Amino acid sequence: MIHGMKPHGLTGRERTYLNNMTNHLTIKQKKAVVDFYTYYQTHEIPEDLTGIIKDNFGIDITSKYCDKIIKNPVIVAPGQITRTTSQVNLISKAGYGGFVLKSFVGEDQNGHCSMSEFRMKPEWIKTFYEPDDTKGERPIIHWKGRLDERDLNLYKPFAQYAHKIGMESGVCAIASILCHLPRGKEDWIEDEWIYTTSQLYELGYHTFEIDFCPYLKSNNIAKNKDMVLRWYKEAPKIMKKVSCEIKVFSKLLNPEWGDEFQIQMVEASIEGKADGVVVANRIYKEQYQSAHGGKELKEINLRTIKNIRKKGIKIPVSATGGIYTGKDVIEYIEAGAENTQLISYIMGRARTPFVKKGNKFKQVLFKLILDPEDGIIQEMLKIKNSLGISSVSEFSKIKQRKIVDRYTCC
Ligand SMILES: Cc1cc2nc3c(=O)[nH]c(=O)nc-3n(C[C@H](O)[C@H](O)[C@H](O)COP(=O)(O)O)c2cc1C
Repeated sequence: MIHGMKPHGLTGRERTYLNNMTNHLTIKQKKAVVDFYTYYQTHEIPEDLTGIIKDNFGIDITSKYCDKIIKNPVIVAPGQITRTTSQVNLISKAGYGGFVLKSFVGEDQNGHCSMSEFRMKPEWIKTFYEPDDTKGERPIIHWKGRLDERDLNLYKPFAQYAHKIGMESGVCAIASILCHLPRGKEDWIEDEWIYTTSQLYELGYHTFEIDFCPYLKSNNIAKNKDMVLRWYKEAPKIMKKVSCEIKVFSKLLNPEWGDEFQIQMVEASIEGKADGVVVANRIYKEQYQSAHGGKELKEINLRTIKNIRKKGIKIPVSATGGIYTGKDVIEYIEAGAENTQLISYIMGRARTPFVKKGNKFKQVLFKLILDPEDGIIQEMLKIKNSLGISSVSEFSKIKQRKIVDRYTCC
């Protein structure tokens, strides 16, 4: 019997779940997954969900973000839901593996910010559904916007709070920044990178993402591929001058330059001493005049991650885009990612109601982990039964083929 739960009879819906699972799980496992899901629909999710899952199913869902162990492989991606204290509070209480703060545009010690045009509130944000998503189950947020509009003075108290709440709740807080990007043969304004990185490092941030993406296809600046590759080859090294403890993940740009260029950006990141890459945080569509994620981004990203691994590149990958089920999460892990990031499913309006009561952060995480049709527990049990692997990290490591020391920074 499942720890802490009373046995109960099965409803018709639960029986359907059980029947759908017959090919992969034992009857006992199927019943346990459904019981667990049903129980926690009406009970508060415990703080130690990861431990309880391990006790009940023999599945370890802890995962990694570079050198950090995280509770589970689901991270809230940077955007409009990771920019206030109340949001990071809710994320931490819900029990995500981590959160990445809305990208911040850096400045030097005198407050000079060469990229200040990117400090701007979004012009518009709307929910979009693909034509084949007739039930409106997979909202995609389309948005026209840039990065966090605050300067460092206003941003720092928020970043400090976010780091503290993350530490207290065992949820990994990750910063995302953009500072000066040189054009042509221009020199770097290193002061912006170093000052911003050091200010956040002093608040406790050791893990950073670099958001190269404001220059998407809508902007002619990113059309020069050599210049883009130079950013990847040099920016992480500059940030690491602050401390060898700093880990940097470069986010791949996702313009329509084809699969080979995605690999070139990864190789440039390695040359730049990046510790990992984020694959890849947005696509830009002329027809919508908007950046977005969703299923289309997921398909491109899965292909990129598989191509990275096929080439024998062992760099850690954080995968983002198009996550609506635990199965989506495990697909990314299977392709060779360490963890996954999502925003649209939390921010958008899914037309199918969530069964779990509470705020959206809780509802989404509950569904991704516990859903008996396609949640992480159910997907991991299939892997355990077929491959004998019962840990998400282990599964990821096997798929990545051992990450070698050369990706550590010092
Ligand atoms: C409204 C909005 C704002 C975003 N802002 C940022 C940002 O500041 N920095 C960043 O790296 N990605 C940003 N993103 C991209 C997301 O972090 C995410 O990688 C992408 O939307 C794919 O995930 P999804 O399919 O769940 O939407 C933003 C996305 C949305 C929808």
